[in-house]
Amino acid sequence: MNQDQLKTLVAQAALQYIEPGQIVGVGTGSTVNKFIDALATVKQRIRGAVSSSEASSERLRAHGIAVLDANAVESLALYVDGADEIDPHGCMIKGGGAALTREKIVAALAERFICIADESKYVPVLGRFALPVEVIPMAAQQIARRFAAHGGVATLRLQGGQPLRTDNGQHILDVTGLCIDEPLAFESEVNNWPGVVCVGVFAHQKASVCLLGTAEGVRTLR
Ligand code: A5P
Repeated sequence: MNQDQLKTLVAQAALQYIEPGQIVGVGTGSTVNKFIDALATVKQRIRGAVSSSEASSERLRAHGIAVLDANAVESLALYVDGADEIDPHGCMIKGGGAALTREKIVAALAERFICIADESKYVPVLGRFALPVEVIPMAAQQIARRFAAHGGVATLRLQGGQPLRTDNGQHILDVTGLCIDEPLAFESEVNNWPGVVCVGVFAHQKASVCLLGTAEGVRTLR
């Protein structure tokens, strides 16, 4: 099976966690796009979705799935999203698609985070994937210097030759050279730096269940 087929496999497997009448938290990315397509096949059974990006909202609406405002929802039973990396404890790096801030907001509303990923995302320690950090533009260089003190190299993410603007109008730094062996402490520390909107370490909002697509089928990690 190729990577695309593995993504389809885990996206479909995530449907087993959906119960009638639920509002589903929906992430962002190529794996989630497959989940949204799968969700459309059971759309009569759900009340709608809370989305983590403009891109996912657009895809949900195109399928006729109602997109609800996060402020209108007190809690969600589950949030389904992909990851750029996931470790054996369920901690993740996310934000390759620049949607990390809203992803963390929706994940924080949910009782359970169902991570769907192909097996290439499973790592013993986080840090091989460049860590995305959403920042207020005027703080970007100051934050880059703080990462340098941790041995990291921060690069401003570009799109069409210009700094990428997130759905929230901010910039993204991608940080290489980090070994994130204490994700909880690392996430808390970076969150405290002035100008950081959101760090792409998901340790406080880690996965409750990971559906990992492998050549042998779906492996469920709890
Ligand atoms: C989006 O900002 C990310 O957090 C995605 O969840 C992550 O990049 C995984 O994306 P893919 O499913 O496209 O690999």
